[in-house]
Amino acid sequence: MLKVLNVVGARPNFMKVAPIVAAMKRRPSDFLPLIVHTGQHYDAAMSDAFFTDLNLPPPDIHLGVGSGSHAVQTAAVMERFEPVVLNEKPDWVLVVGDVNSTIACALVCVKLGVKVAHVEAGLRSRDRTMPEEINRLLTDQIADLLFTPSHDADENLLAEGIPRERIRFVGNVMIDSLQKNLNVARALPTREQLGLAGTDYALLTLHRPSNVDMRDSFDRILDALEAISTRLPIVFPVHPRTKKTIAELGLSDRVESIKELRIVDPLGYLDFLNLSSSARLVLTDSGGIQEETTALGIPCITLRENTERPITVEMGTNVVVGTDTQKIITAATAALNGSAKTALRQPPLWDGHTSERILDALEEFAAAQ
Ligand code: UD1
Repeated sequence: MLKVLNVVGARPNFMKVAPIVAAMKRRPSDFLPLIVHTGQHYDAAMSDAFFTDLNLPPPDIHLGVGSGSHAVQTAAVMERFEPVVLNEKPDWVLVVGDVNSTIACALVCVKLGVKVAHVEAGLRSRDRTMPEEINRLLTDQIADLLFTPSHDADENLLAEGIPRERIRFVGNVMIDSLQKNLNVARALPTREQLGLAGTDYALLTLHRPSNVDMRDSFDRILDALEAISTRLPIVFPVHPRTKKTIAELGLSDRVESIKELRIVDPLGYLDFLNLSSSARLVLTDSGGIQEETTALGIPCITLRENTERPITVEMGTNVVVGTDTQKIITAATAALNGSAKTALRQPPLWDGHTSERILDALEEFAAAQ
């Protein structure tokens, strides 16, 4: 029996951990899963809603860390996580993704000699100004077992000197959640409630500091949105960071003046999937949404200069356009005229069974030690 501490911290972690914990609960004689929530995200809309939507059991341990600078947040997670690991003595700690909670918990484990597995390992944007890139690089250097979603990730890890025997290509665990929940999400009245039934619409998310913390990039994106919104409404569930910076940068009037930019509160997992699965196009700076739109076959315009998920461009529906106003408008026009890329095929092992492969590898690796 393997006791596993599954760490969640921020919104993009929940849909990765939920299928893994569910798979562990289906194998109770092999796995004892506990959920540790660092509290990096704490608003009901950024956290609780995802536990409900994804049937994720409530956290066994909540560290209540909250917001802060990178150093403050990372240090607080480390300080509060260390006694939990000492007390629980897990066989494995499982961290996912690339948020501050991921590196903080991995670092605690390696110093204590507790085995740590990283799900979604090996992704690289090669942009070290992104906090997530630093979190990815460092977590992968210290984790014992690295679960990759695509072969480019294996290659990145090998090039960084990670021994092949620590790398397992298992596919994309987010797609386990997507496949399990798609029909339920589609049946919800989300579009009707937002007045979008039977209407073409675009869906927008924005929260990267490089886009929303600076006036120039935010202005360029807003210029593009203004133009696109003359063709169809754009639904914009606003991340708390973005809400704050819109006010701080004095952009509230500008945002409100774009009539068909429809601002809504952050959405839960199922409501968002309801909207993304029927959108004409999605504009985003999120990593996970690039993957979900590829799985759904929905055109995705990525408002960043790079992506750590190149497979979504090679095989999927994603185009990476940056924040140049004209490039965004051109990509949106292509999607609306039906000349956007379509998904060639699903990336290998994005098949809904990644969590089972992760469990098998955890057992196999532990048995071999
Ligand atoms: C974090 C992750 C990012 C991920 C994103 C998804 C890091 C470095 N960044 O960015 O990789 O894509 O989550 O959402 O780990 N806030 C609230 N309520 C909350 C959480 C945050 O109001 O529940 C506000 C606070 O003002 C906070 C700000 O949002 O200071 C930023 O939160 P933080 O967790 O530091 O970074 P995100 O931008 O959410």
